[in-house]
Amino acid sequence: MKKNKTAIVTGGAMGYKTGGTSIGGAISIKLAKEGFSVIVVDLGEMGQRTVDVIKKNGGDGIFLKADVTNTEEVNKIIDTIKSTYGSLHCLVNCVARYSPGMGKNVADISEEEWNKTLEVNLNGYFKMAKYSIPLMLESGGGTIINISSIESQVVLPNFSVYSVSKAAVDALTRTMAVDFAPKIRSNSVVPGFVKIANSENNRTPEQLEKWYSDISKQYPMKRVCEVDEIANIVAFLASDQSSYINGQAIVVDGGKTIADTHEF
Ligand SMILES: NC(=O)c1ccc[n+]([C@@H]2O[C@H](COP(=O)([O-])OP(=O)(O)OC[C@H]3O[C@@H](n4cnc5c(N)ncnc54)[C@H](O)[C@@H]3O)[C@@H](O)[C@H]2O)c1
Repeated sequence: MKKNKTAIVTGGAMGYKTGGTSIGGAISIKLAKEGFSVIVVDLGEMGQRTVDVIKKNGGDGIFLKADVTNTEEVNKIIDTIKSTYGSLHCLVNCVARYSPGMGKNVADISEEEWNKTLEVNLNGYFKMAKYSIPLMLESGGGTIINISSIESQVVLPNFSVYSVSKAAVDALTRTMAVDFAPKIRSNSVVPGFVKIANSENNRTPEQLEKWYSDISKQYPMKRVCEVDEIANIVAFLASDQSSYINGQAIVVDGGKTIADTHEF
């Protein structure tokens, strides 16, 4: 059954091979539990899997297969929301582009990889916001939540364009926070490493155990983050419980970026 509030989650598909956990999937499922009708947007067919889970839980949602970098497809998403639900209250931008060619420093990365990554990780967020905001304003206001990364603040070697895209997403968040308050609040959620099905593909169980164990050692919490620990913060930012939080980058990294690591 349709709810009174609607939310778009881009990158909302479950893991692309297994249908396993994903950050966008967990966010979609959580927002549906919080009473939103959720419009799951993704390039991957596993977006339908997310909606199936939402419906199994008694929630409401639809899957729209679309590319957030394509203006025509983005406008079609907004038109569908208008005709199906009539209003929009929340946008969660959660897509990201990964390719072997983007994992390089500034000297080595090709211009094509640089531009393609910014096209998804930055312009995909910009376009979704640009075309959602008028409907959100017509609907009486709402919240925009951009999924950033600690790579916006600290640097993973040879991951240059990803870092730049996430720093730009935080700046996009702040500019929208100033320009559209008080009707629309905008915030970023800034995760450290999060356990997702897509990065588990192509690793044996033994390799996975070692990988997670090695990463966990770098985090004061001594474990990696679960997708629900990101989804809970998004739900908080989408709710009136966070009614005076605007333009912030909320770091959810178990204390990694504030921890000094050298021996004294
Ligand atoms: N997993 C982590 O450790 C981690 C850490 C920090 C931040 N993040 C952020 O979390 C978000 C989710 O990504 P993830 O890493 O969990 O990976 P993911 O692969 O599970 O999710 C990315 C999703 O975006 C979709 N997508 C990519 N390009 C698209 C496009 N043009 N149009 C529509 N959909 C598109 C993919 O199909 C995929 O379902 C991203 O913003 C990522 O930067 C992830």
